[in-house]
Amino acid sequence: MSDGPGRGGDEPDPAVIDDPIDGDAVSRHLATTWLGRARHIHLAVCASTNDIASAEARGGAAQGLVVTADAQTSGRGRLGRVWHSPAGANIYVSVLLRPRRPAAEIPPVTLLAGGAVAAALSALGFDVRVKWPNDVLLATGGHVRKVAGILTEAQTEGDRVGHVVVGIGLNVHTRRFADDLADKATSLALAGGRGLMRARILAHVLATFEAAYDRFQARGAAAAIELWEAHASLGVRCRARVGGATGGTTVEGITEGVAADGALELRDDDGVVHHIVAGEVVPVTEA
Ligand code: BTN
Repeated sequence: MSDGPGRGGDEPDPAVIDDPIDGDAVSRHLATTWLGRARHIHLAVCASTNDIASAEARGGAAQGLVVTADAQTSGRGRLGRVWHSPAGANIYVSVLLRPRRPAAEIPPVTLLAGGAVAAALSALGFDVRVKWPNDVLLATGGHVRKVAGILTEAQTEGDRVGHVVVGIGLNVHTRRFADDLADKATSLALAGGRGLMRARILAHVLATFEAAYDRFQARGAAAAIELWEAHASLGVRCRARVGGATGGTTVEGITEGVAADGALELRDDDGVVHHIVAGEVVPVTEA
């Protein structure tokens, strides 16, 4: 999970079972039209599946490429954080997209992916919600913890979009996280998931994402925002740390929704709606 740069990794999980996620295993369950159909690159280990997908994109690979790995040595998350990626335990996947939409509509692709992961997990019976901008949270034994995260990396030139790589990390089998993640991270196994098969879960996520992305191609950011809001807990009091290198400022208010550019709308106690475009948003627990 991605909760701090440079922190120690979590231990490989001793409970990991034989649960393949290569192209053959996934294709047995895959009901997509184009996503993961023509090419699925699977690696036992790589630095980051996003790097492999980006390199393929620069080499001219077509939209729909799927890259998975059993383990990542430099898995990364948002805000420069580490995404711990122990071997065989979880899903580490990147998909290559070549959207027809303008560059301004790319930030909401992260919301689209988070919404699609949440929709797929909900359909499998898990109690999940999205948290702006890229977290998928899962209720586990009275706690709400992060089960998945999205990292979107785009190559744009002015308003033109070359390619977009959407990376998804989804905790499936990990039962024991490193100490610094133990109260923040969870997995489908910890939420009571039984008979978990990474290939089947991934195929379901890909099919859900493909349908969502087709709507995004047709309708743009509105399709992403609708899906994300359908799986979000809005009306929650939150604190956003915004601004840069010198510490920035803090804004507190109630989450209202997401604007057309993907920014979180936070209404403060004076009624002013702040548009949060980057940074960390945390729920405020009332005293
Ligand atoms: C976050 O929550 O900050 C985003 C985490 C994204 C992790 C995934 S795992 C597959 C892909 N490869 C990476 O290096 N990162 C993403």
